[in-house]
Amino acid sequence: MGYTPPAMERTGVVVIGGGPGGYVAARRLGQLGVETVLVEMGHLGGTCLNEGCIPTKALYAATSPLGAGDKFARMGIELQARADLPRLRAWVGEVVAGLRGGIARLLQAAQVEVLRGKAELAGPGKVRVVSGDGERELGAEAVVLATGSVPIELPGFPFDGERVWSSTHALALPRVPERLVVIGGGVIGLELATVYRRLGSQVVVVEALDRLLPGVGLSRRGEALLRRSLGAQGISVRLGARAQGLTGHGVVVATPGGEEELPAEAVLVAVGRRPRSDGLNLDRAGGKVERGVVATDEGFLAAPGVYAIGDLRGGWMLAHRASHEGLHVAEAIAAALRGAPPPPPEAAVVPQAVFTQPEVALVGVPADEAPGRGFRVGRFPAAALGRAWAEGETEGHVQVVVDGDGRVVGAEIVGPHASDLLGEATLAVHRGLTAQELADTVHAHPSFPEGLWEAALSALGRPLHAG
Ligand code: NAI
Repeated sequence: MGYTPPAMERTGVVVIGGGPGGYVAARRLGQLGVETVLVEMGHLGGTCLNEGCIPTKALYAATSPLGAGDKFARMGIELQARADLPRLRAWVGEVVAGLRGGIARLLQAAQVEVLRGKAELAGPGKVRVVSGDGERELGAEAVVLATGSVPIELPGFPFDGERVWSSTHALALPRVPERLVVIGGGVIGLELATVYRRLGSQVVVVEALDRLLPGVGLSRRGEALLRRSLGAQGISVRLGARAQGLTGHGVVVATPGGEEELPAEAVLVAVGRRPRSDGLNLDRAGGKVERGVVATDEGFLAAPGVYAIGDLRGGWMLAHRASHEGLHVAEAIAAALRGAPPPPPEAAVVPQAVFTQPEVALVGVPADEAPGRGFRVGRFPAAALGRAWAEGETEGHVQVVVDGDGRVVGAEIVGPHASDLLGEATLAVHRGLTAQELADTVHAHPSFPEGLWEAALSALGRPLHAG
């Protein structure tokens, strides 16, 4: 039997990948009246919803009573918390499935067609989709690549889901190992170390560099605070320790003092993620992949008619960055199809929140860079905040970085609800608000956002409730 090439179907835009970059782009394109097909080989929602941000936060929230016994005992409340793993798994599954269903409905409402299968570029304006039902070829005016990223495997630690876990394995809660070694003191390593410690594992975090969260711009002061707090939770942190290999009993690490074996029934490898750019065949459409990263211009154009957004572009692999880029390309494509000028490129201010205990949230210029750039830092400790006392959560601080014109150019929040407080700080940095404007804004009392207000007052040289 001879080969029959698949018949080419035509559509406006094909979006490859249904994560927070791709589904947001597709929904916006649909709303703008552009005929759009979204191709997804796994579940809608991508890594963030299915094996990243959302299950982590569900586990973080669900396990919080397990780590809060001492705090509540000090308040006169005796807690008896115990994890029931099958029910915990089921609850996380319900959260994920519920949100997934929501995305499907949003896409349907915007008249986006969702195709199941694996897509690749087959030439300029051509996408091939392979699924269990066979092969289809789609012709499109534009293609959006949004295939995300995958965990990096460390040589000597092949993921098997049994002893060596990626974050995906860890989030599936296969069991609670008695001893867990976490390789990598980055964002994923610390979030999952927190969850597994609460569930009862003895956790050792092994970090090759001399500090935790080396990639996020956390100040030395903030990092020391976080390390102290992790220690108090019983999480052991080994800095300057590089994981070398797996033995029958655990992990060999190289430290400045020599090699050491750390016993472990399970090892979580969280040493970064890499863009999922293999197999896209970008070269067939005239684009380039450089060391795994899809090269784009400032308008996210990777090749004529081909856009790339989110983790594929490297850098900070964050869901909200991908969504922001997804909205931008949707507007750009819709404009191009109408023959209108594209929206101007925008230098987005991208905040970052880390769900450790305490939470860590950052935006803009790191506090430790302030002196070198001639900027001021206003600081306010959580221990001076009424609401923090009332909640028994006095660990943390707010720091705002203010430039020579008095504008807020950065903020670091360590402490309870830091990820939520970050919204106001991000708006301030994005809009170039001054410390004076933040200080002039009335903040409800007693509330955690008062910390930001107090830090602004401190930056102006008139601290109210602190030093
Ligand atoms: P990461 O880059 O944040 O941290 C990896 C850490 O592993 C680094 O500190 C590195 O020094 C260390 N390391 C590398 N090789 C090592 C070795 N052999 N021994 C010991 N330590 C070693 O990567 P992570 O945590 O895997 O996160 C990946 C991406 O996911 C990041 O881009 C992050 O921004 C994103 N993410 C963000 C979240 C958030 O914003 N809340 C949550 C989860 C992921």
